[in-house]
Amino acid sequence: MTIMVSFDFLNCLIFALIFLVPTLCYFVFFFTKPNNGFDMPPSAPSLPIIGHLHLLLLDSIHKCFQKISSKYGPILHLHIFHVPIVLVSSASAAYEIFKSHDTNVSYRGDIAIDECIVFGSSGYFRAPCGDYWKFMRKLIMARALGPQALDRSRGVRAFELERFHKNLLDKAMKKETVKIGEEARILVNNTLGKMSLGSSFSVENNDGKKVSEFSIQLADLSHMFCVAQIFHKPLEKLGISLLKTQIMEVSNRFEELLEKILVNYENNVDKHQGTEFMDALLAAYQDENTEYKITRNHIKALLAELFFGAGESSSSTTRWAMAEILSNPQILERLREEIDSIVGKTRLIQESDLPKLPYLQAVVKESLRLHPVGAVLPREFTQDCTIGGFYIHEGTSLVINAYAVMRDPNIWEDPNEFKPERFLNSSILGKEEERKEQALKFLPFGGGRRGCPGLHLGYTLVETTIGVMVQCFDWEIKGDKINIEEGSGLKFFLDLAHPLECTPLLRTINH
Ligand code: HEM
Repeated sequence: MTIMVSFDFLNCLIFALIFLVPTLCYFVFFFTKPNNGFDMPPSAPSLPIIGHLHLLLLDSIHKCFQKISSKYGPILHLHIFHVPIVLVSSASAAYEIFKSHDTNVSYRGDIAIDECIVFGSSGYFRAPCGDYWKFMRKLIMARALGPQALDRSRGVRAFELERFHKNLLDKAMKKETVKIGEEARILVNNTLGKMSLGSSFSVENNDGKKVSEFSIQLADLSHMFCVAQIFHKPLEKLGISLLKTQIMEVSNRFEELLEKILVNYENNVDKHQGTEFMDALLAAYQDENTEYKITRNHIKALLAELFFGAGESSSSTTRWAMAEILSNPQILERLREEIDSIVGKTRLIQESDLPKLPYLQAVVKESLRLHPVGAVLPREFTQDCTIGGFYIHEGTSLVINAYAVMRDPNIWEDPNEFKPERFLNSSILGKEEERKEQALKFLPFGGGRRGCPGLHLGYTLVETTIGVMVQCFDWEIKGDKINIEEGSGLKFFLDLAHPLECTPLLRTINH
Protein backbone atom coordinates (compact mmCIF):
# COMPACT_ATOMS: atom_id res chain seq x y z
CA MET A 1 0.00 0.00 0.00
CA THR A 2 2.77 2.38 1.05
CA ILE A 3 4.59 1.49 -2.13
CA MET A 4 1.50 2.29 -4.21
CA VAL A 5 0.96 5.61 -2.49
CA SER A 6 4.56 6.66 -2.94
CA PHE A 7 4.40 5.47 -6.57
CA ASP A 8 1.29 7.61 -7.12
CA PHE A 9 2.99 10.55 -5.49
CA LEU A 10 6.01 10.08 -7.71
CA ASN A 11 3.77 9.86 -10.79
CA CYS A 12 2.01 13.07 -9.79
CA LEU A 13 5.32 14.79 -9.30
CA ILE A 14 6.60 13.65 -12.69
CA PHE A 15 3.40 14.75 -14.42
CA ALA A 16 3.49 18.08 -12.66
CA LEU A 17 7.06 18.56 -13.84
CA ILE A 18 6.28 17.49 -17.38
CA PHE A 19 3.11 19.46 -17.91
CA LEU A 20 3.04 22.30 -15.40
CA VAL A 21 6.56 23.61 -15.70
CA PRO A 22 6.61 23.83 -19.51
CA THR A 23 3.10 25.31 -19.52
CA LEU A 24 4.15 27.99 -17.03
CA CYS A 25 7.28 28.67 -19.05
CA TYR A 26 5.10 28.96 -22.14
CA PHE A 27 2.92 31.64 -20.57
CA VAL A 28 5.84 33.55 -19.09
CA PHE A 29 7.75 33.36 -22.38
CA PHE A 30 4.94 34.21 -24.77
CA PHE A 31 3.11 36.81 -22.80
CA THR A 32 6.12 38.76 -21.60
CA LYS A 33 8.03 38.76 -24.89
CA PRO A 34 7.77 42.07 -26.77
CA ASN A 35 5.47 42.03 -29.83
CA ASN A 36 6.86 45.19 -31.47
CA GLY A 37 3.48 46.91 -31.16
CA PHE A 38 1.55 44.11 -32.91
CA ASP A 39 -1.12 41.96 -31.29
CA MET A 40 -0.81 38.21 -31.12
CA PRO A 41 -3.55 36.36 -33.07
CA PRO A 42 -6.84 35.91 -31.20
CA SER A 43 -7.45 32.68 -29.34
CA ALA A 44 -10.32 30.40 -28.27
CA PRO A 45 -11.27 29.71 -24.62
CA SER A 46 -8.77 27.27 -23.13
CA LEU A 47 -8.41 25.11 -20.02
CA PRO A 48 -5.56 25.25 -17.50
CA ILE A 49 -2.58 23.00 -18.33
CA ILE A 50 -4.08 21.19 -21.35
CA GLY A 51 -4.89 24.43 -23.19
CA HIS A 52 -7.06 23.72 -26.24
CA LEU A 53 -6.59 19.95 -26.25
CA HIS A 54 -10.21 19.29 -25.23
CA LEU A 55 -11.41 21.02 -28.42
CA LEU A 56 -9.39 18.63 -30.56
CA LEU A 57 -10.67 15.32 -29.22
CA LEU A 58 -14.23 15.35 -30.51
CA ASP A 59 -13.67 14.51 -34.18
CA SER A 60 -10.87 14.19 -36.75
CA ILE A 61 -8.21 16.80 -36.13
CA HIS A 62 -8.85 18.78 -39.38
CA LYS A 63 -12.58 18.95 -38.61
CA CYS A 64 -11.96 20.09 -35.02
CA PHE A 65 -9.60 22.79 -36.30
CA GLN A 66 -12.20 23.76 -38.94
CA LYS A 67 -14.88 24.09 -36.26
CA ILE A 68 -12.63 26.27 -34.07
CA SER A 69 -11.60 28.56 -36.92
CA SER A 70 -15.14 29.03 -38.24
CA LYS A 71 -16.11 30.21 -34.74
CA TYR A 72 -13.06 32.25 -33.72
CA GLY A 73 -11.31 33.35 -36.93
CA PRO A 74 -8.97 32.32 -39.75
CA ILE A 75 -5.72 33.05 -37.87
CA LEU A 76 -5.72 31.77 -34.29
CA HIS A 77 -3.27 31.30 -31.48
CA LEU A 78 -3.82 28.02 -29.59
CA HIS A 79 -1.77 25.84 -27.27
CA ILE A 80 -1.72 22.18 -26.37
CA PHE A 81 0.03 21.78 -23.03
CA HIS A 82 3.29 23.70 -23.55
CA VAL A 83 3.15 23.70 -27.37
CA PRO A 84 2.09 27.05 -28.90
CA ILE A 85 0.30 26.73 -32.26
CA VAL A 86 -0.84 29.20 -34.89
CA LEU A 87 -3.78 27.79 -36.82
CA VAL A 88 -4.31 29.17 -40.32
CA SER A 89 -7.54 28.39 -42.17
CA SER A 90 -7.86 31.04 -44.86
CA ALA A 91 -6.48 30.94 -48.39
CA SER A 92 -5.14 34.51 -48.15
CA ALA A 93 -3.16 33.86 -44.94
CA ALA A 94 -1.80 30.56 -46.35
CA TYR A 95 -0.78 32.42 -49.50
CA GLU A 96 0.93 35.17 -47.48
CA ILE A 97 2.87 32.52 -45.56
CA PHE A 98 4.09 30.63 -48.64
CA LYS A 99 4.83 33.85 -50.56
CA SER A 100 6.53 35.99 -47.91
CA HIS A 101 7.58 33.63 -45.10
CA ASP A 102 8.44 30.42 -46.91
CA THR A 103 11.98 30.10 -45.52
CA ASN A 104 10.74 30.91 -42.04
CA VAL A 105 8.24 28.00 -42.12
CA SER A 106 10.26 25.45 -44.06
CA TYR A 107 10.98 23.30 -40.99
CA ARG A 108 8.47 20.67 -39.88
CA GLY A 109 9.39 20.79 -36.20
CA ASP A 110 11.16 18.45 -33.79
CA ILE A 111 11.53 14.79 -34.61
CA ALA A 112 9.42 12.45 -32.49
CA ILE A 113 11.72 9.40 -32.51
CA ASP A 114 15.20 9.88 -33.97
CA GLU A 115 15.85 6.23 -34.82
CA CYS A 116 12.55 5.66 -36.62
CA ILE A 117 12.86 4.76 -40.32
CA VAL A 118 10.06 7.18 -41.25
CA PHE A 119 10.06 10.78 -40.03
CA GLY A 120 13.24 10.11 -37.98
CA SER A 121 16.52 12.02 -38.00
CA SER A 122 17.90 10.18 -41.07
CA GLY A 123 14.74 10.94 -43.02
CA TYR A 124 14.08 13.57 -45.65
CA PHE A 125 10.59 14.63 -44.63
CA ARG A 126 11.53 16.24 -41.33
CA ALA A 127 15.03 17.33 -42.30
CA PRO A 128 15.66 21.06 -41.91
CA CYS A 129 16.26 22.97 -45.17
CA GLY A 130 20.06 22.63 -44.82
CA ASP A 131 22.76 21.03 -47.00
CA TYR A 132 21.34 17.50 -46.74
CA TRP A 133 17.84 18.54 -47.79
CA LYS A 134 19.12 20.70 -50.66
CA PHE A 135 21.38 17.93 -51.97
CA MET A 136 18.62 15.33 -51.78
CA ARG A 137 15.98 17.58 -53.34
CA LYS A 138 18.30 18.20 -56.30
CA LEU A 139 19.05 14.49 -56.66
CA ILE A 140 15.38 13.46 -56.35
CA MET A 141 14.28 15.98 -59.00
CA ALA A 142 17.10 15.17 -61.42
CA ARG A 143 16.95 11.38 -61.09
CA ALA A 144 13.36 10.55 -60.25
CA LEU A 145 10.66 13.21 -60.13
CA GLY A 146 11.64 15.98 -62.57
CA PRO A 147 9.94 16.03 -66.02
CA GLN A 148 12.88 14.46 -67.89
CA ALA A 149 13.45 11.72 -65.31
CA LEU A 150 9.71 10.96 -65.40
CA ASP A 151 9.85 10.67 -69.19
CA ARG A 152 12.71 8.17 -68.89
CA SER A 153 10.78 5.97 -66.44
CA ARG A 154 7.51 6.00 -68.40
CA GLY A 155 7.98 2.38 -69.57
CA VAL A 156 8.20 1.09 -65.97
CA ARG A 157 4.87 2.66 -65.10
CA ALA A 158 3.20 1.38 -68.28
CA PHE A 159 4.38 -2.15 -67.45
CA GLU A 160 3.02 -2.01 -63.88
CA LEU A 161 -0.28 -0.53 -65.10
CA GLU A 162 -0.63 -3.44 -67.53
CA ARG A 163 0.08 -5.87 -64.66
CA PHE A 164 -2.59 -4.12 -62.55
CA HIS A 165 -5.05 -4.45 -65.45
CA LYS A 166 -4.28 -8.17 -65.84
CA ASN A 167 -4.74 -8.75 -62.14
CA LEU A 168 -8.17 -7.06 -62.22
CA LEU A 169 -9.08 -9.07 -65.35
CA ASP A 170 -8.24 -12.23 -63.43
CA LYS A 171 -10.45 -11.14 -60.51
CA ALA A 172 -13.24 -10.24 -62.93
CA MET A 173 -13.08 -13.72 -64.53
CA LYS A 174 -13.32 -15.30 -61.09
CA LYS A 175 -16.01 -12.80 -60.00
CA GLU A 176 -13.85 -11.99 -56.98
CA THR A 177 -14.53 -8.91 -54.85
CA VAL A 178 -11.54 -6.60 -54.41
CA LYS A 179 -10.69 -3.82 -52.00
CA ILE A 180 -9.96 -1.03 -54.49
CA GLY A 181 -7.73 0.77 -52.00
CA GLU A 182 -5.52 -2.26 -51.44
CA GLU A 183 -5.13 -2.98 -55.14
CA ALA A 184 -4.23 0.68 -55.74
CA ARG A 185 -1.74 0.68 -52.85
CA ILE A 186 0.05 -2.40 -54.23
CA LEU A 187 0.14 -0.93 -57.75
CA VAL A 188 1.62 2.35 -56.47
CA ASN A 189 4.21 0.58 -54.31
CA ASN A 190 5.19 -1.81 -57.13
CA THR A 191 5.59 1.19 -59.43
CA LEU A 192 7.62 3.22 -56.91
CA GLY A 193 9.69 0.10 -56.10
CA LYS A 194 10.48 -0.58 -59.76
CA MET A 195 11.17 3.11 -60.46
CA SER A 196 13.64 3.36 -57.57
CA LEU A 197 15.14 -0.16 -57.26
CA GLY A 198 14.63 -1.75 -60.67
CA SER A 199 14.59 -5.54 -60.77
CA SER A 200 15.90 -5.84 -57.18
CA PHE A 201 12.38 -4.93 -56.18
CA SER A 202 10.58 -8.16 -56.88
CA VAL A 203 6.88 -8.01 -57.59
CA GLU A 204 6.88 -11.81 -57.97
CA ASN A 205 8.34 -12.08 -54.46
CA ASN A 206 5.55 -9.79 -53.21
CA ASP A 207 7.89 -6.92 -52.25
CA GLY A 208 5.13 -4.41 -53.12
CA LYS A 209 2.69 -6.26 -50.88
CA LYS A 210 5.20 -6.45 -48.01
CA VAL A 211 5.94 -2.72 -48.26
CA SER A 212 2.20 -2.03 -48.34
CA GLU A 213 1.71 -3.99 -45.12
CA PHE A 214 4.33 -1.85 -43.36
CA SER A 215 2.62 1.30 -44.63
CA ILE A 216 -0.68 0.12 -43.16
CA GLN A 217 0.94 -0.69 -39.81
CA LEU A 218 2.70 2.68 -39.65
CA ALA A 219 -0.48 4.54 -40.61
CA ASP A 220 -2.27 2.70 -37.79
CA LEU A 221 0.32 4.11 -35.36
CA SER A 222 -0.32 7.74 -36.50
CA HIS A 223 -1.82 8.77 -33.14
CA MET A 224 1.24 7.42 -31.32
CA PHE A 225 3.57 9.42 -33.56
CA CYS A 226 1.56 12.56 -32.72
CA VAL A 227 1.69 11.94 -28.98
CA ALA A 228 5.39 11.07 -29.23
CA GLN A 229 5.92 14.33 -31.14
CA ILE A 230 4.65 16.33 -28.17
CA PHE A 231 5.80 14.27 -25.19
CA HIS A 232 8.53 11.85 -26.23
CA LYS A 233 11.49 14.21 -25.79
CA PRO A 234 10.53 15.60 -22.30
CA LEU A 235 9.63 12.09 -21.12
CA GLU A 236 12.87 10.59 -22.41
CA LYS A 237 14.82 13.24 -20.51
CA LEU A 238 13.17 11.86 -17.37
CA GLY A 239 14.14 8.31 -18.35
CA ILE A 240 10.61 7.31 -19.38
CA SER A 241 10.42 5.59 -22.74
CA LEU A 242 6.83 5.80 -23.81
CA LEU A 243 5.38 4.72 -27.16
CA LYS A 244 8.79 4.09 -28.65
CA THR A 245 8.73 0.29 -28.40
CA GLN A 246 5.70 -0.26 -30.60
CA ILE A 247 6.76 2.22 -33.27
CA MET A 248 10.34 0.90 -33.34
CA GLU A 249 9.17 -2.70 -33.65
CA VAL A 250 7.49 -1.90 -37.00
CA SER A 251 10.30 0.46 -37.99
CA ASN A 252 13.00 -2.20 -37.42
CA ARG A 253 11.20 -4.84 -39.46
CA PHE A 254 10.61 -2.34 -42.28
CA GLU A 255 14.30 -1.42 -42.21
CA GLU A 256 15.28 -5.12 -42.39
CA LEU A 257 13.21 -5.56 -45.54
CA LEU A 258 14.73 -2.46 -47.17
CA GLU A 259 18.26 -3.56 -46.20
CA LYS A 260 17.62 -6.93 -47.87
CA ILE A 261 16.40 -5.28 -51.08
CA LEU A 262 19.34 -2.86 -51.02
CA VAL A 263 21.91 -5.66 -50.56
CA ASN A 264 20.25 -7.50 -53.44
CA TYR A 265 20.61 -4.36 -55.56
CA GLU A 266 24.30 -3.95 -54.67
CA ASN A 267 25.09 -7.65 -55.28
CA ASN A 268 23.51 -7.59 -58.71
CA VAL A 269 24.73 -4.28 -60.04
CA ASP A 270 26.57 -6.03 -62.91
CA LYS A 271 23.77 -8.43 -63.77
CA HIS A 272 20.70 -6.27 -63.89
CA GLN A 273 19.73 -2.87 -65.09
CA GLY A 274 19.82 -0.61 -62.06
CA THR A 275 18.02 2.69 -61.82
CA GLU A 276 19.60 6.11 -62.22
CA PHE A 277 18.00 7.14 -58.91
CA MET A 278 19.52 4.32 -56.83
CA ASP A 279 22.86 4.53 -58.66
CA ALA A 280 23.05 8.24 -57.80
CA LEU A 281 22.15 7.54 -54.15
CA LEU A 282 24.76 4.78 -53.87
CA ALA A 283 27.38 7.00 -55.51
CA ALA A 284 26.68 9.69 -52.90
CA TYR A 285 27.04 7.00 -50.21
CA GLN A 286 30.23 5.35 -51.53
CA ASP A 287 32.10 8.18 -53.21
CA GLU A 288 34.42 10.18 -50.93
CA ASN A 289 34.44 13.14 -53.33
CA THR A 290 30.71 13.52 -53.65
CA GLU A 291 29.04 16.93 -53.22
CA TYR A 292 27.38 15.66 -50.02
CA LYS A 293 28.23 12.34 -48.35
CA ILE A 294 25.11 10.48 -47.32
CA THR A 295 24.81 7.41 -45.08
CA ARG A 296 23.16 4.05 -45.67
CA ASN A 297 20.49 5.07 -43.17
CA HIS A 298 19.73 8.14 -45.28
CA ILE A 299 19.04 5.86 -48.27
CA LYS A 300 16.80 3.45 -46.36
CA ALA A 301 14.91 6.27 -44.64
CA LEU A 302 14.32 8.02 -47.96
CA LEU A 303 12.98 4.80 -49.51
CA ALA A 304 10.77 4.12 -46.48
CA GLU A 305 9.35 7.65 -46.55
CA LEU A 306 8.72 7.46 -50.29
CA PHE A 307 6.88 4.16 -49.95
CA PHE A 308 4.98 5.33 -46.89
CA GLY A 309 4.30 8.99 -47.72
CA ALA A 310 4.09 8.90 -51.51
CA GLY A 311 2.56 5.43 -51.66
CA GLU A 312 -0.18 6.20 -49.13
CA SER A 313 -0.95 9.67 -50.58
CA SER A 314 -1.32 8.39 -54.13
CA SER A 315 -3.28 5.26 -53.29
CA SER A 316 -5.53 7.06 -50.81
CA THR A 317 -6.32 9.73 -53.44
CA THR A 318 -7.19 6.92 -55.88
CA ARG A 319 -9.57 5.38 -53.31
CA TRP A 320 -11.34 8.68 -52.69
CA ALA A 321 -11.67 9.48 -56.38
CA MET A 322 -13.03 6.03 -57.17
CA ALA A 323 -15.50 6.23 -54.26
CA GLU A 324 -16.80 9.57 -55.61
CA ILE A 325 -16.98 8.27 -59.21
CA LEU A 326 -18.89 5.14 -58.22
CA SER A 327 -21.28 7.20 -56.09
CA ASN A 328 -22.09 9.50 -59.04
CA PRO A 329 -23.30 7.50 -62.10
CA GLN A 330 -23.43 10.62 -64.34
CA ILE A 331 -19.81 11.40 -63.56
CA LEU A 332 -18.83 7.79 -64.32
CA GLU A 333 -20.71 7.98 -67.62
CA ARG A 334 -19.13 11.29 -68.67
CA LEU A 335 -15.67 10.03 -67.71
CA ARG A 336 -16.12 6.87 -69.71
CA GLU A 337 -17.37 8.75 -72.75
CA GLU A 338 -14.30 10.98 -72.63
CA ILE A 339 -11.91 8.02 -72.30
CA ASP A 340 -13.68 6.00 -75.01
CA SER A 341 -13.62 8.92 -77.44
CA ILE A 342 -9.91 9.69 -76.93
CA VAL A 343 -8.41 6.26 -76.19
CA GLY A 344 -10.95 4.05 -77.98
CA LYS A 345 -11.74 0.48 -77.04
CA THR A 346 -8.83 -1.36 -78.59
CA ARG A 347 -5.98 -0.37 -76.31
CA LEU A 348 -5.35 0.49 -72.68
CA ILE A 349 -5.18 4.13 -71.54
CA GLN A 350 -1.61 5.44 -71.29
CA GLU A 351 0.19 8.47 -69.87
CA SER A 352 0.39 10.26 -73.22
CA ASP A 353 -3.45 10.29 -73.32
CA LEU A 354 -3.76 12.30 -70.09
CA PRO A 355 -3.37 15.84 -71.54
CA LYS A 356 -6.33 15.05 -73.83
CA LEU A 357 -8.55 13.95 -70.93
CA PRO A 358 -9.50 17.20 -69.11
CA TYR A 359 -12.54 15.72 -67.41
CA LEU A 360 -10.47 12.89 -65.88
CA GLN A 361 -7.99 15.52 -64.62
CA ALA A 362 -10.86 17.60 -63.21
CA VAL A 363 -12.32 14.57 -61.38
CA VAL A 364 -8.96 13.88 -59.69
CA LYS A 365 -8.49 17.56 -58.77
CA GLU A 366 -11.99 17.75 -57.31
CA SER A 367 -11.31 14.62 -55.31
CA LEU A 368 -8.10 16.15 -53.95
CA ARG A 369 -9.97 19.35 -53.07
CA LEU A 370 -12.70 17.58 -51.14
CA HIS A 371 -10.52 14.83 -49.65
CA PRO A 372 -6.93 16.10 -49.33
CA VAL A 373 -4.93 13.19 -47.91
CA GLY A 374 -2.64 15.68 -46.17
CA ALA A 375 -5.53 17.54 -44.56
CA VAL A 376 -3.34 19.63 -42.24
CA LEU A 377 0.15 20.91 -43.04
CA PRO A 378 2.33 21.16 -39.92
CA ARG A 379 5.36 23.51 -39.92
CA GLU A 380 7.27 25.64 -37.40
CA PHE A 381 8.19 29.33 -37.35
CA THR A 382 11.97 29.59 -36.96
CA GLN A 383 11.90 33.40 -36.56
CA ASP A 384 9.54 36.03 -35.16
CA CYS A 385 7.28 37.49 -37.89
CA THR A 386 3.88 39.03 -38.58
CA ILE A 387 1.10 37.25 -40.50
CA GLY A 388 -2.15 39.02 -41.37
CA GLY A 389 -1.04 41.87 -39.09
CA PHE A 390 -0.53 39.55 -36.06
CA TYR A 391 2.74 38.95 -34.25
CA ILE A 392 4.08 35.39 -34.16
CA HIS A 393 6.99 34.25 -32.03
CA GLU A 394 9.85 32.05 -33.12
CA GLY A 395 9.33 28.41 -32.07
CA THR A 396 5.55 28.55 -32.57
CA SER A 397 4.13 25.57 -34.45
CA LEU A 398 2.15 26.37 -37.58
CA VAL A 399 -0.83 24.33 -38.72
CA ILE A 400 -2.29 25.22 -42.12
CA ASN A 401 -5.67 23.55 -42.39
CA ALA A 402 -5.71 22.71 -46.12
CA TYR A 403 -9.01 20.87 -45.62
CA ALA A 404 -10.71 24.03 -44.33
CA VAL A 405 -9.16 26.26 -47.02
CA MET A 406 -10.45 23.95 -49.75
CA ARG A 407 -13.97 23.91 -48.29
CA ASP A 408 -14.14 27.61 -47.50
CA PRO A 409 -17.64 28.78 -48.61
CA ASN A 410 -16.24 32.28 -49.27
CA ILE A 411 -14.03 31.05 -52.08
CA TRP A 412 -15.63 27.82 -53.33
CA GLU A 413 -19.17 27.57 -54.64
CA ASP A 414 -21.07 24.63 -53.05
CA PRO A 415 -17.86 23.71 -51.20
CA ASN A 416 -19.08 20.36 -49.87
CA GLU A 417 -20.29 19.03 -53.22
CA PHE A 418 -18.33 16.92 -55.66
CA LYS A 419 -18.39 19.03 -58.85
CA PRO A 420 -15.44 18.32 -61.18
CA GLU A 421 -16.77 20.94 -63.67
CA ARG A 422 -15.42 23.71 -61.44
CA PHE A 423 -11.92 22.76 -62.63
CA LEU A 424 -12.97 22.85 -66.29
CA ASN A 425 -14.38 26.37 -66.07
CA SER A 426 -11.10 27.76 -64.78
CA SER A 427 -9.70 27.48 -68.32
CA ILE A 428 -11.55 30.71 -69.21
CA LEU A 429 -8.93 32.55 -67.13
CA GLY A 430 -5.52 33.30 -68.60
CA LYS A 431 -2.87 30.68 -67.70
CA GLU A 432 -0.90 32.91 -65.32
CA GLU A 433 -4.06 34.19 -63.64
CA GLU A 434 -5.33 30.63 -63.31
CA ARG A 435 -2.07 29.49 -61.72
CA LYS A 436 -2.14 32.33 -59.17
CA GLU A 437 -5.77 31.70 -58.26
CA GLN A 438 -5.11 27.99 -57.80
CA ALA A 439 -1.99 28.62 -55.68
CA LEU A 440 -4.13 30.72 -53.40
CA LYS A 441 -6.84 28.22 -52.61
CA PHE A 442 -5.87 24.72 -53.85
CA LEU A 443 -3.42 23.10 -51.42
CA PRO A 444 -3.58 19.27 -51.72
CA PHE A 445 0.18 19.16 -52.36
CA GLY A 446 1.06 21.79 -49.75
CA GLY A 447 3.05 24.83 -50.79
CA GLY A 448 6.39 26.64 -50.85
CA ARG A 449 9.77 24.93 -50.97
CA ARG A 450 8.55 22.03 -48.80
CA GLY A 451 5.56 21.46 -51.07
CA CYS A 452 5.24 18.04 -52.67
CA PRO A 453 7.95 17.32 -55.27
CA GLY A 454 5.94 14.27 -56.43
CA LEU A 455 2.96 16.30 -57.68
CA HIS A 456 3.36 15.33 -61.36
CA LEU A 457 4.02 11.68 -60.59
CA GLY A 458 1.12 11.72 -58.10
CA TYR A 459 -1.32 13.05 -60.72
CA THR A 460 -0.02 10.58 -63.32
CA LEU A 461 -0.34 7.55 -61.03
CA VAL A 462 -3.83 8.45 -59.84
CA GLU A 463 -5.16 9.43 -63.28
CA THR A 464 -3.90 6.35 -65.10
CA THR A 465 -5.11 3.99 -62.34
CA ILE A 466 -8.59 5.56 -62.36
CA GLY A 467 -8.43 5.53 -66.17
CA VAL A 468 -7.91 1.74 -66.30
CA MET A 469 -10.62 1.03 -63.72
CA VAL A 470 -13.17 3.19 -65.58
CA GLN A 471 -12.15 2.22 -69.12
CA CYS A 472 -12.05 -1.55 -68.67
CA PHE A 473 -14.51 -2.49 -65.93
CA ASP A 474 -17.96 -2.03 -64.54
CA TRP A 475 -18.05 -2.20 -60.77
CA GLU A 476 -20.59 -4.06 -58.69
CA ILE A 477 -20.80 -2.39 -55.30
CA LYS A 478 -20.99 -4.48 -52.14
CA GLY A 479 -24.13 -3.28 -50.29
CA ASP A 480 -26.63 -0.75 -51.70
CA LYS A 481 -24.38 2.28 -51.90
CA ILE A 482 -20.85 3.52 -51.39
CA ASN A 483 -20.16 4.74 -47.88
CA ILE A 484 -18.17 7.93 -48.38
CA GLU A 485 -17.63 8.60 -44.67
CA GLU A 486 -14.21 9.82 -43.49
CA GLY A 487 -12.16 7.74 -41.08
CA SER A 488 -11.92 9.22 -37.56
CA GLY A 489 -9.08 9.67 -35.09
CA LEU A 490 -5.59 11.08 -35.47
CA LYS A 491 -4.20 9.87 -38.80
CA PHE A 492 -1.35 10.95 -41.04
CA PHE A 493 -3.53 10.49 -44.11
CA LEU A 494 -7.19 11.33 -44.54
CA ASP A 495 -8.82 8.03 -45.55
CA LEU A 496 -12.22 6.43 -46.03
CA ALA A 497 -13.74 4.99 -42.85
CA HIS A 498 -14.57 1.71 -44.60
CA PRO A 499 -12.74 -0.15 -47.34
CA LEU A 500 -14.13 0.32 -50.83
CA GLU A 501 -15.12 -3.24 -51.74
CA CYS A 502 -16.40 -3.92 -55.27
CA THR A 503 -16.41 -6.69 -57.87
CA PRO A 504 -14.92 -5.83 -61.26
CA LEU A 505 -17.09 -6.89 -64.21
CA LEU A 506 -15.59 -7.09 -67.65
CA ARG A 507 -16.49 -4.32 -70.09
CA THR A 508 -16.17 -5.22 -73.74
CA ILE A 509 -12.76 -3.94 -74.76
CA ASN A 510 -10.42 -5.75 -77.15
CA HIS A 511 -6.66 -5.41 -76.98
C1 HEM B 1 -1.73 12.32 -55.05
C2 HEM B 1 -0.56 12.08 -54.53
C3 HEM B 1 0.17 12.92 -53.52
C4 HEM B 1 -0.31 13.84 -52.62
C5 HEM B 1 -1.75 14.27 -52.41
C6 HEM B 1 0.83 14.36 -51.89
C7 HEM B 1 0.75 15.33 -50.90
C8 HEM B 1 1.84 15.83 -50.22
C9 HEM B 1 1.76 16.84 -49.18
C10 HEM B 1 0.47 17.49 -48.69
C11 HEM B 1 3.02 17.08 -48.74
C12 HEM B 1 3.43 18.07 -47.64
C13 HEM B 1 3.62 19.40 -48.31
C14 HEM B 1 3.83 20.57 -47.37
O1 HEM B 1 4.21 20.41 -46.21
O2 HEM B 1 3.62 21.70 -47.84
C15 HEM B 1 3.92 16.23 -49.49
C16 HEM B 1 5.29 16.19 -49.33
C17 HEM B 1 6.11 15.33 -50.01
N1 HEM B 1 5.73 14.45 -51.00
FE1 HEM B 1 3.88 14.17 -51.76
N2 HEM B 1 1.96 13.75 -52.35
C18 HEM B 1 1.60 12.87 -53.34
C19 HEM B 1 2.46 12.07 -54.08
C20 HEM B 1 3.81 12.02 -53.94
C21 HEM B 1 4.70 11.20 -54.74
C22 HEM B 1 4.25 10.28 -55.86
C23 HEM B 1 5.97 11.43 -54.27
C24 HEM B 1 7.27 10.84 -54.71
C25 HEM B 1 7.44 9.65 -55.23
C26 HEM B 1 5.87 12.37 -53.18
C27 HEM B 1 6.94 12.82 -52.43
C28 HEM B 1 6.85 13.77 -51.42
C29 HEM B 1 8.01 14.23 -50.66
C30 HEM B 1 9.46 13.72 -50.81
C31 HEM B 1 7.55 15.21 -49.78
C32 HEM B 1 8.38 16.00 -48.77
C33 HEM B 1 8.92 17.26 -49.46
C34 HEM B 1 9.88 18.06 -48.61
O3 HEM B 1 9.79 18.04 -47.39
O4 HEM B 1 10.74 18.72 -49.19
N3 HEM B 1 4.55 12.71 -53.00
N4 HEM B 1 3.18 15.48 -50.39
